[in-house]
Amino acid sequence: MKNIKAIIFDAYGTLFDVNSAAEKCKEKIGDKWEGFSNYWRITQLEYTWLRSLMKRHKDFWKITEDSLDKSMKAYKIDSSMKNELLYLYKILSPFNEVPEVLKTLKKKNLKLAILSNGTPSLLNQLIKSNNLENIFSDIFSIEEVGIYKPDSKVYDIPIKKYQIKKEEVVFLSSNTWDVSGGGNYGYNSIWVNRNNNIFDNLDYKPKNEIKNLTELLAII
Ligand code: LAC
Repeated sequence: MKNIKAIIFDAYGTLFDVNSAAEKCKEKIGDKWEGFSNYWRITQLEYTWLRSLMKRHKDFWKITEDSLDKSMKAYKIDSSMKNELLYLYKILSPFNEVPEVLKTLKKKNLKLAILSNGTPSLLNQLIKSNNLENIFSDIFSIEEVGIYKPDSKVYDIPIKKYQIKKEEVVFLSSNTWDVSGGGNYGYNSIWVNRNNNIFDNLDYKPKNEIKNLTELLAII
């Protein structure tokens, strides 16, 4: 890819495995852990979109807790698990290849950044607990604009900070709607399709689709 000045990553689901919190409790939760984890994630995302539309912003940590409360009720999970799940969500594991790929990319002369719904303190904690300090030039949080992805104000944040063109950004996300959001905004969005999913019909199709971040090294 030519004329790229910044590589910007989504965090949750792209760098960090949102299912890793419930997975670490699968002995206690039992077979329903995965259904529960997916329900928690989709409820969390719905709350971000709904709160943005209702103009009733709450930060991502509060939304994570609110969506967990509903999901635990829906899946009849004992309320004594709540604190453990929340704690594990603060220290989500990265996908296997992520640390190595980030360290390789760091050697290239490009800005590496995160652009996420997470609060600055959540994102910093995730980076610290996974020993990924000193990789990113910036950790951009939607808290700066008080509205969630895919509002264009979010995708504007790095453009304003770096004073670069939208097409000079490579944006990576596993979340199809976030790939569509960034792509419609004008980024070169790449879809990290980890689970052989189906893409959205939202007016943007990514030129590049990869299975994991290792494949990024071959196209960048
Ligand atoms: C984020 C959500 C979309 O990190 O995963 O912004």
